[in-house]
Amino acid sequence: MATVLRSLCCLIILHVSNSPLAFSQEENQFVYHGFSQANLHLGGIAEIHRNGLLQLTNLSKERTGSAFYRFPLNFNTTSSGAISSLSFSTTFVFAMVPQEPNMGGHGMAFAISPSMDFAHATSNQYLGLFNLPNNGLAANHILAIELDSVKNPEFEDIDGNHVGVDVNSLKSIQSAPATYLSDKEGRNISLELVSGNPMQLWIDYDEAEKLVNVTLAPARMSKPNRTLLSTPINLSQIILGHMYVGFTSATGYPLASDHYILGWSFNRSGQAQSFDVSSLPRLPPRRKRKEKPGLMTITSLILAAVVLVTIIGAAYIIRRKKYEEIREDWEMEYGPHRFSYKNLYKATKGFKDEQLLGAGGFGKVYRGVISSSNLQIAVKKVSHDSKQGMKEFVAEIISLGRLRHRNLVQLLGYCRRRGELFLVYDYMPNGSLDKFLYSNGRPSLNWLTRFRIRGVASGLLYLHEEWEQVVLHRDIKASNVLLDAEYNGRLGDFGLARLCDHGTDPHTTHVVGTVGYLAPELTRTGKATTCTDVFAFGAFMLEMACGRRPIELQGQPENVILVDWVFEYWRKGAILDASDPRLEGNYVVEEMILVLKLGLLCSHANPAARPSMRQVMQVLDGDANLPDVPYDTASLCTFSNYNASDFLLSLPSSFGQRSAPSMSSTDSILKEGR
Ligand SMILES: *[C@@H]1O[C@H](CO)[C@@H](O)[C@H](O)[C@H]1NC(C)=O
Ligand SMILES: *[C@@H]1O[C@H](CO)[C@@H](O)[C@H](O)[C@H]1NC(C)=O
Ligand SMILES: *[C@@H]1O[C@H](CO)[C@@H](O)[C@H](O)[C@H]1NC(C)=O
Ligand SMILES: *[C@@H]1O[C@H](CO)[C@@H](O)[C@H](O)[C@H]1NC(C)=O
Ligand SMILES: *[C@@H]1O[C@H](CO)[C@@H](O)[C@H](O)[C@H]1NC(C)=O
Ligand SMILES: *[C@@H]1O[C@H](CO)[C@@H](O)[C@H](O)[C@H]1NC(C)=O
Ligand SMILES: *[C@@H]1O[C@H](CO)[C@@H](O)[C@H](O)[C@H]1NC(C)=O
Repeated sequence: MATVLRSLCCLIILHVSNSPLAFSQEENQFVYHGFSQANLHLGGIAEIHRNGLLQLTNLSKERTGSAFYRFPLNFNTTSSGAISSLSFSTTFVFAMVPQEPNMGGHGMAFAISPSMDFAHATSNQYLGLFNLPNNGLAANHILAIELDSVKNPEFEDIDGNHVGVDVNSLKSIQSAPATYLSDKEGRNISLELVSGNPMQLWIDYDEAEKLVNVTLAPARMSKPNRTLLSTPINLSQIILGHMYVGFTSATGYPLASDHYILGWSFNRSGQAQSFDVSSLPRLPPRRKRKEKPGLMTITSLILAAVVLVTIIGAAYIIRRKKYEEIREDWEMEYGPHRFSYKNLYKATKGFKDEQLLGAGGFGKVYRGVISSSNLQIAVKKVSHDSKQGMKEFVAEIISLGRLRHRNLVQLLGYCRRRGELFLVYDYMPNGSLDKFLYSNGRPSLNWLTRFRIRGVASGLLYLHEEWEQVVLHRDIKASNVLLDAEYNGRLGDFGLARLCDHGTDPHTTHVVGTVGYLAPELTRTGKATTCTDVFAFGAFMLEMACGRRPIELQGQPENVILVDWVFEYWRKGAILDASDPRLEGNYVVEEMILVLKLGLLCSHANPAARPSMRQVMQVLDGDANLPDVPYDTASLCTFSNYNASDFLLSLPSSFGQRSAPSMSSTDSILKEGR
């Protein structure tokens, strides 16, 4: 009996130890025409269609997907039975189908990695491959070839349509615009990654040459002779004993594409096998493809057209007037960012009042839906009679449209008519934060949602320090923080304050901003800096914590200014008493104290004493301790010097309504035309 049991055990052990290891030794090569039977490990939203098509990501925004060969490959060249070189060859056919032309993103990558778990990798420019903390770390041990359809300045991307070789970081060590050398035509031909057409990529590494070669071509073509990239890399410094191979992918916001893999072959012992293209799974039919009309229909259509043309002609002239816009030569290069007035008119149902989302310092905002794509938009309608500075302003708007951050409201484009400028933004379904904070009837925002101001801080940090140039927001306030579908705060209206500068005499300085958020030095000098943004952010933080506006004119005189009010509580050693009573004590005490103290620090009358946004982020993330808020008579003096009269002196005549109006009053400045 015992012997039988023992041999049974042996059998089981043998079997168990045999399967994955023995497998991985044999499995140094595979080829998949479609993935129905494939040994893949899927992560994120990746899925395999019934026809075998592998879809890494779909049009859902800010999502990631991954697909890795389930078994680790043995790259330990000294272990017994292993292949004694690191050389490999792989090729795959992929397709990136954008939501609509110009709106594809962000990209995908082939990766060799010690792990196939990419759950912590983030979307957008991180391609589902890395995240902010691990990007660039040598401990990643990842070689990736990226197919990137968005230009990201922070990774020094060369353009929005490139192939790059990445080692441990999204900052490619070498990259090239997507092109191939046609052997037949003898010239370089550009490919658009997000054309939706299937393409093939070859990646070959030769251990002796220590070169990673990358070659791209349309799927129907054989491998071109010229490689797109030939990058010297010593893989033995990157590759560990066992590595996984596969793909990661990410969509962004608002940019998204369907990312597909149709076929994939991988080989450690020779050239990766090529595909029989006809046996690859088909892509789903293209969206919005119009059927070709038959001959009869065409004839009758032409006849009908001839009859109708005069009627239409008359109607056209009338309509043309209705949809007339201004389009100048210098705007040519902004083509993709230009929305037609007609589309905006239709999207907003003719700018009807029922579509009105709000009216702010810069004009009215309407909600709309672009019918062809179901894209929800918010259209800001700004009046302007001045032509002066419009060119510079539009250039700046377009450049701001390249800013991408999950805590900024994405600017999609613009349109111009006589006397009117339209700015098109992503629609934020939950409106602005102040509406929730000073809720009439609505339940008050809970602490969890309020503490997401961390996100807003990271958006502001991006504007100040992480983009290619410093962008000042100049009008941070609760009503400029919008909430997306998941209640993440996103900063809106950034950079718009420049509109005032462009429309006016450059020699006069206009203070732009909102009363209660204006740093004291700003009202004196009129010069906006990152410090004045930090001041406004401090006022905003206190507003979140206390549920009070930065200035309450109806309160007791000593309660007028929120900063002073909180400072008084803090001096008495009872800072928590300043917290919003509507929270009924439901908050994390440490977080509340942190936000209140940090808010005070940012609102310091002395700009030099305020932290930078990077320091604010570090404190909010718990990576740095809160610096000591100066707590002596001198600083008290500073705080109380900074009193109501500073503000009242600078109030515009319209001030006095409860809702602290914008001082910028863009409309009138633009209307005056100088
Ligand atoms: C994308 O895929 C996920 C997971 O399969 C699904 O929940 C989501 O609805 C899909 N989105 C779109 C736009 O098809
Ligand atoms: C490779 O295999 C050898 C022998 O089995 C072992 O000593 C060595 O630690 C392995 N190296 C790596 C990097 O796993
Ligand atoms: C194609 O592009 C490559 C790399 O940019 C360049 O070296 C080559 O000369 C070009 N060939 C032709 C025919 O333009
Ligand atoms: C890589 O490309 C270089 C030049 O482009 C070529 O000399 C080399 O043989 C190629 N190696 C492989 C493995 O394809
Ligand atoms: C590549 O180069 C070889 C020799 O230079 C030539 O015969 C061949 O036609 C070229 N094209 C392809 C697709 O192999
Ligand atoms: C490649 O890296 C390995 C390990 O660091 C090193 O031993 C080897 O000399 C390097 N080869 C070259 C050509 O740099
Ligand atoms: C791998 O390379 C070997 C030698 O060239 C070849 O016989 C085999 O078919 C290749 N396998 C795959 C899956 O590419």
